[in-house]
Parts: sequence; C-alpha cells; structure tokens
Amino acid sequence: MAELSLTYRWMTPEDGDGLLRLHRRAILLDAVRAYSPAIAHSWAEGLRPEGYAEAAANGEEIEVAQAWGAVVGFCGIRGERIKGLYVDPAFTGRGIASGLMRRALGRLLARGHGAAKVTAALSGVPFYEAFGFQALQTQLHPTRGGCEMKVVEMALELGGEDAPTAGPSQAAWAMTRLRPVSLAS
Ligand SMILES: CC(C)(COP(=O)(O)OP(=O)(O)OC[C@H]1O[C@@H](n2cnc3c(N)ncnc32)[C@H](O)[C@@H]1OP(=O)(O)O)[C@@H](O)C(=O)NCCC(=O)NCCS
Repeated sequence: MAELSLTYRWMTPEDGDGLLRLHRRAILLDAVRAYSPAIAHSWAEGLRPEGYAEAAANGEEIEVAQAWGAVVGFCGIRGERIKGLYVDPAFTGRGIASGLMRRALGRLLARGHGAAKVTAALSGVPFYEAFGFQALQTQLHPTRGGCEMKVVEMALELGGEDAPTAGPSQAAWAMTRLRPVSLAS
C-alpha cells in the first residue's frame, strides 16, 4: 500500500460539504456493521454542512487530516471530551484516526486535563480500547432520526506519576505515552 502523506489543519467553514460526505460515509459504510441499517440511517439523518462550523462556534475544536489535498478524517474535542472521530471508509486501517487521536490527546495533556472522555459508538470501541481507553458504562443514546443507539462511555487517564508537568519534555513524554497503537504504513 502506498505510504500516506498526511497533513493536519483546523477545519474551516468551507469544509462543511466535504465533512458531511465523509461523516455520512463513515456511518453508513463502516459504523453500520455494529448497528442495524435503520439505526445507522437514523444516526446519519439530519447532519448538515453548516453543523461543523456551528459546533466550532460553540467551542468544539475540529481538526481535519488531509491526504493528497482531500479531507480523509476529522476529530473534534471540547474540554476533555472527544466529540467525534471519523475516517473516510476508503482510508481506514492506515493510522489516520491514530494520528488525529494522538494530536488531540497531546492537546488535552498540554492543557492539564487528567483524563480524556468519549461517548463511543460500538464501531469505535475497539479503536479506543487499543488506545487504552476503559469502558465505564453502556448507555442508550437518542439519534437525530429518533432511534436509540447503544454507546459506551469510556475514559483514558492522562498524565500519571511519571508525567512531566510542563515544557518540551512533557511533549516528548506524551508522544511515547500516547503511542500504544502501531501506525499502518
Ligand atoms: C473507528 C475509526 C475512527 C478508526 O479509524 P482508522 O483510521 O481506521 O483507525 P487506525 O487505522 O488509526 O487504527 C488504529 C488501531 O485501532 C484499532 N482498530 C481500528 N478499527 C478497528 C476495528 N474495527 N476493530 C478492531 N480494532 C480496530 C486497531 O488496533 C488499529 O491498529 P492496527 O491498524 O495496527 O490494527 C474508523 O473506522 C471510523 O471512522 N469508523 C466509523 C465511525 C466511528 O465509529 N467512529 C467512532 C465514533 S465515536
């Protein structure tokens, strides 16, 4: 497989259409394997291109990963929470989510958060487990389309006794600590 040259940048309002397409594809082609088609459709229902810029205006930081000029994944964080992590199904299994997640966790760590939290779709649970997240509780979450989907509340402890509290050594420490998942080449 050709090596991916990934670049990362913050989302802009012009990304709306591309993010919507990617988001729907990730749900309807990948996540659907963990749910019924009816639940996946009702999860994807009601997504709008403007929704990403609106979320950003409300404090969500959305970073996108690009390969060959196209957006292939995105990750949002707000406070200590991972709000969304999606990779285009044509590009999964190549370390894109891992790259986005390491960057997001590095940011949380640099801001002094003691844990990262996520409400994970069942399709994301193996990914988060590979990163060291622990399942706390299973819940039913209402979808935009009026169904209920099973989700798992998960958390990853950041820092720890060996973590430097600040400075360049903290960044170096974060890169080792946050590298439990091997990168696909
Ligand atoms: C889950 C998702 C974000 C993973 O993206 P990705 O770019 O393929 O992830 P990576 O390539 O970085 O995978 C890293 C590791 O996570 C684990 N992993 C990822 N997907 C997995 C799966 N379906 N089953 C088991 N392990 C998985 C593996 O350990 C993998 O390491 P490996 O490649 O060495 O085996 C992507 O498949 C997706 O967008 N799914 C649909 C939407 C979704 O469920 N998002 C999460 C919502 S909270």
